[in-house]
Amino acid sequence: MVILGLSPIVHESAVGLVVDGKLVAAAAEERFSRIKSDGAFPDRALQFVFDKTGLSPADVDHVAYAALPFAKERLRDVVGYARNVAYVAQASDRAATKLAHLLNYTRNLVLHNEWATWGGTQRRIRCELEKWDLAGKMVYVDHHLAHVASAYYTSGLDRCLAVSLDGYGSGQAGSFYLGQGGKLRLLSPIPYPHSLGTFYRRVTQALGYRPNRHEGKIVGLAAFGDPTKLYAEVRARFDLDHEDYYRFKSAADPWFEKRLAAAHAPSDVAAAYQRVLEDVATLFVHKWVRRTGVKDVVCAGGVFANVKLNQRIAEIPEVERLFVFPAMSDGGVGVGAALALQADLRGLEPNRLPHVYLGPSYEEERIGRALAASGLRYRRSDDIETDIVDNLLARKVVARFDGPMEFGPRALGNRSILYPALEPAVNKWLNERLGRTEFMPFAPVSLDERATELYENVEAVRHTAQFMTVTTDCTPKMRAESPAAVHVDGTARPQLVKAEINPSLYKVLKLYERRTGIPTLINTSYNMHEEPIVCAPEDALRAFRDGRLEVLAIGNYLVQSSEAA
Ligand SMILES: [Fe+2]
Repeated sequence: MVILGLSPIVHESAVGLVVDGKLVAAAAEERFSRIKSDGAFPDRALQFVFDKTGLSPADVDHVAYAALPFAKERLRDVVGYARNVAYVAQASDRAATKLAHLLNYTRNLVLHNEWATWGGTQRRIRCELEKWDLAGKMVYVDHHLAHVASAYYTSGLDRCLAVSLDGYGSGQAGSFYLGQGGKLRLLSPIPYPHSLGTFYRRVTQALGYRPNRHEGKIVGLAAFGDPTKLYAEVRARFDLDHEDYYRFKSAADPWFEKRLAAAHAPSDVAAAYQRVLEDVATLFVHKWVRRTGVKDVVCAGGVFANVKLNQRIAEIPEVERLFVFPAMSDGGVGVGAALALQADLRGLEPNRLPHVYLGPSYEEERIGRALAASGLRYRRSDDIETDIVDNLLARKVVARFDGPMEFGPRALGNRSILYPALEPAVNKWLNERLGRTEFMPFAPVSLDERATELYENVEAVRHTAQFMTVTTDCTPKMRAESPAAVHVDGTARPQLVKAEINPSLYKVLKLYERRTGIPTLINTSYNMHEEPIVCAPEDALRAFRDGRLEVLAIGNYLVQSSEAA
């Protein structure tokens, strides 16, 4: 059975192809269009999944779309709104705050784009699918079921708590499910507007960053602040005296974050929001872990892009293993919809996702042509990994482009920039060169076989740490050897590499370790400021020039900038 999974066409549109329950190809439209978080209909990504698999639209049995039909979604919105009005009326909060919340919530509901256009987005999707002869095959899947399915069916864990948390989807802001024997059973939805995604998005915006894009910067900034200064005030917005889910009082109050941001240091505001987010989410995950007696937790939804939150969940005493779907945001929810539909129609056991190298790859001949047209100096290498390590030891920044592109937000060695993790100063000068502002240091990539020497409590997150989805505390050895990859709070967000998953990256790390004794490098994504990660060889060559990088190892070719030569 061939199921095409489609993310909502709002932001991060993406597609994935599931063949007989196995994810065989997936990519986001932004990588092809070169527009960050592109929400256009994913024509280019669709073409890619067909090109890669040799299948055609006629071979597709169903198109799983991670949303409910228009009328059903709006009905949930209205029911949620009515319940929230009743809840807010009795909640313990200041009257002015309640009023501000209700007025803004009412306004947002009435002005909701889907109301205004009466289902315009869904009509547009059908229209676009018609062009591919796929409109008749469309099946709607609840957004949060799709999120938890993405995590459950790729975790390899048979019995676990499956949690989704995001801003909004299908009238809800999250859900708790129990995954068991290949089936997902809803324990409790988290109705909108009780949204931790919205909570964090609002502070991102109030601190002057782009919502739905720069939340990761707030996570990094938080480590520099004092969480205790504003904790009580921010925490008081939540009502935690329930067993099913937290209530977010006056969630749509438009002034709260703005007032805090105007009066306090950004790092203290970020620190309080981060701590409250961690405490609220972890408290309810813990409650459900105790109620169900499960030992494993799997997560998806945009809130789980928060790597520090994920560490806190992994540290819940009863939790033995945590898995976060690598494309945890809405870019991955289409894949989840496809997996949920497969499970519904044919049954599906959870299988351990081996890797996310699911995107396009390019033949040597195509790379050679792009190089010849670039005017850059290059040569073919007989041993590209040794050349990479020689350059790293000479303290050159090495961009690496190789094999299939990663699916999801992280570059995992095939579209990455590598550098030794020895001097913390690299975070400043390399980010400046790439036109980025970051508060988190670059992330480390380490040999999997050295994980327990470098990262604390890593067994609980060993699978998910293949995908850079969680931070861990660093051991003294890691802090001493690779200080550039350790944050001020002593944590890092590792990628663990095994030989059988990425042989070339493994070989680079192994050679580097042999010559330095250190099994870790810095791995940051290969892209320029606010651009998507590079996809094709031409993107890599352009970013190489724009970033004034020193060395590019593209396939088996080595390119050196004229300044570095
Ligand atoms: Fe979502």
